Amino acid sequence: MSRVLIVDDEASICWAFGEYLGDLGHDVAVASSAEEGLDAARSGPFDAVVLDVRLPGMDGLTAMPAFRERIGDAPIIVITAFGSLDTAVRAMEAGAFDYLVKPFDLDEAGAVVRRALESAEPGRKGRAKDDEGPARTGLVGSSPPMQALFKQIALVAPTDVPVLITGESGTGKELVARAIHQNGPRGARTFLPVCLAALSPGLVEGELFGHVRGSFTGASQDRKGLLELAAGGTVLLDEIGDVPLGMQVKLLRAIEHREVTPVGDARPRGIDVRFLAATNRPLHRLMADNQFREDLYFRLSVFPIHIPPLRDRPEDIPELARHFIALADPSRGRAADLRPDTLAELRRRPWTGNVRELRNAIERAVILARGCPILPEHLPPAAASLAPESAGVDGLDPAIARWTEAALAALPDPDAEGADSLYDRFLAQVEPPMLRAVLRRESGNKALAAQRIGIHRGTLRQKLRRYGME
Ligand SMILES: Nc1ncnc2c1ncn2[C@@H]1O[C@H](COP(=O)(O)OP(=O)(O)OP(=O)(O)O)[C@@H](O)[C@H]1O
Ligand SMILES: [Mg+2]
Repeated sequence: MSRVLIVDDEASICWAFGEYLGDLGHDVAVASSAEEGLDAARSGPFDAVVLDVRLPGMDGLTAMPAFRERIGDAPIIVITAFGSLDTAVRAMEAGAFDYLVKPFDLDEAGAVVRRALESAEPGRKGRAKDDEGPARTGLVGSSPPMQALFKQIALVAPTDVPVLITGESGTGKELVARAIHQNGPRGARTFLPVCLAALSPGLVEGELFGHVRGSFTGASQDRKGLLELAAGGTVLLDEIGDVPLGMQVKLLRAIEHREVTPVGDARPRGIDVRFLAATNRPLHRLMADNQFREDLYFRLSVFPIHIPPLRDRPEDIPELARHFIALADPSRGRAADLRPDTLAELRRRPWTGNVRELRNAIERAVILARGCPILPEHLPPAAASLAPESAGVDGLDPAIARWTEAALAALPDPDAEGADSLYDRFLAQVEPPMLRAVLRRESGNKALAAQRIGIHRGTLRQKLRRYGME
């Protein structure tokens, strides 16, 4: 028999969960606030504490260190509200054994308590390993869009449906994919991100589906493809917008029928993977240009998740900044210092590279600050980015700035049929001369030119076709 303390201001939860654990033979005490719980913990040892985060008076996260003092190494299981995985993550980082998301089912909660008690048995001391139990997501942010995102993740993670994750570069698409994987039934198995844009068109099929011996020169033995190797796990089809059309048909078949045919083989083989896909390209535009298949789009977008750019959720900036400071320099601790002027500067910036840019800026600043408070001047120079309040075009080459201003003034109705976006028209201005120069430099070799400017060969070919430069 173990002694378990439940701290929750919802009497119904204390009662139902208390009864449940009592039936399992545990000795249960309940408290309706952190203060009351701490009093109880002072009066006797407990083997585990189940602690709600949202409490009247002191909240659960704040109370955790005080509970630690009183209960020693005994596991703490935290209860968080639906849609606030970030709190759960913080609790785990503060040493919680595991977390429960309200509303929880009693069997599931009972299983968590059982695991917690087992882990505390002599010889099994210590926290659960990262690969046990509901996993941490690493996703930070509590703005309304992030709350909505956490809700979507919680909804879709337990299922096996494909999820299409869209958002600008650096918004956290891969992190969201991991969170879906980790919080689902396949969480303990492989998570395999495959960057489809990085695989050359000639190799992508063999990489994904495998090949049989003799199927091409150099194929001296059978080789399993990535989709087969990830058996039981999750595959993230990253940069799905960059997959050549021919390959799209084959991917659709793999997703729909859960089978692949290795190159050179006639028989399809079953695969057991969950498919997630991510892209920062506007798939509906690619569809309109016949560069992306509708059937694949509809198959993938059963459950679409869009991550808004950081500039649309500036409330997340302080929390993200503190998170990245703590990651870069753990000695600064959780409540990492952020001076008001530094915070103001962080909030002022447009973060066109989204969370990734913020993370890089913070990592650099932490190094420059050498353990002292981070000052605005430790951040990378902001000159090159477009400050939102300047309406625009500071820091650009004057010729491009003039063009952009004119284009902004003449901006067509976004709903107008066939209207090219400002972005496309901008690219149509700057890309052709740049491509011409690179091609000239590489003596017309498209593969080398593509490599030189860091885009995929197929993408270069598409651009040349679009601008009639072939
Ligand atoms: N909400 C978040 N909380 C914590 N870290 C985040 C968050 N969003 C993004 N990051 C971090 O920002 C970086 C970029 O994230 P990620 O690689 O998932 O972006 P992405 O959307 O896949 O970008 P790309 O389109 O360029 O591939 C990573 O270091 C990731 O850990
Ligand atoms: Mg990515």
